[in-house]
Amino acid sequence: MKLRTVFAFFAAACMAAAALAQQPIVIKFSHVVALDTPKGLAAEYFKKIAEERTRGRVKVEVYPNSQLYKDKEELEALQLGAVQMLAPSMAKFGPMGVREYEAFDLPYIFDDYKELHRVTQGPIGQLLLKKLDSKGIAGLAFWDNGFKVMSANKPLRMPDDFKGLKMRIQSSKVLDLQMRALGAIPQVMAFSEVYQALQTGVVDGTENPVSNLYTQKMYEVQKYVTLSDHGYLGYALIANKKFWDSLPADIRVILDGAVKDSTKFANDLAQKKNDEDLESIRKSGKSQIITLTPQEKMAWKKALFKVHRESEARIGKELLQSIYKETGFDPGKL
Ligand code: LMR
Repeated sequence: MKLRTVFAFFAAACMAAAALAQQPIVIKFSHVVALDTPKGLAAEYFKKIAEERTRGRVKVEVYPNSQLYKDKEELEALQLGAVQMLAPSMAKFGPMGVREYEAFDLPYIFDDYKELHRVTQGPIGQLLLKKLDSKGIAGLAFWDNGFKVMSANKPLRMPDDFKGLKMRIQSSKVLDLQMRALGAIPQVMAFSEVYQALQTGVVDGTENPVSNLYTQKMYEVQKYVTLSDHGYLGYALIANKKFWDSLPADIRVILDGAVKDSTKFANDLAQKKNDEDLESIRKSGKSQIITLTPQEKMAWKKALFKVHRESEARIGKELLQSIYKETGFDPGKL
């Protein structure tokens, strides 16, 4: 081979290597909620700091609002490597066999964010994130949303008011038991389909934190919203494990930092966003907001506590006891 040809080959190889080195690592981050929600804003924040701190070596493409995948499909897509990051609600892990996450769906298990954080930010949280390894998922952190309200076209003040109502739930056995304990008929449905199902009367009501009710405009097709705080809905920030583990070491350090900082961002924002959205619903006049009296709330707790017992074997008695211990939840008090 002539020397000139060798040089030409060498130069071409160098240029190809340089081009490859400049190719950013692309992270597709898919989620099902609106941009202007705790999860939506935290995903955008993660994108911003990840791209800035890696000086463009990482590109994060955020796909909100079920644009790319609906909630069940997005987990499959992550496992297949079609997307690299997600932040599904905890309820979404039960159907894939990680039943321990169903503990988060239990009625009244956390009184407030402080109690929740003792679990999500402590050793139990770490243990739960590790549980995802066997599914090819790297559990990175917990992102807050908030405590749920119930909505319908009739006022929901007492458990009896639920009788016969078709209530949309996520695909969670615990949420199924919860609606049945209230006398309602649970209907599993993808998040992206709830607005239309409420509008057309396919379901009568639903539950979610206010931020979702507001940003999906569900309150426009629901006459009453009860501030029941009967359960919690939040997220696990996750990545495809193979992808996450194979990141170059320097990038991985930066992204771990971005996860930590966006988790703080998400968790500082969640309550504020839900409070603001409640005010917006109130001002809209489209839904009437119902606050429960202490007696009414106690009636909800009494009706719903059996769900803890009914779910104990599925979730694991030991895990449940350790959560109760951490939060001070005392089933005997009801
Ligand atoms: C739902 O399906 O109601 C929630 O998981 C939506 C979300 O991700 O907040």
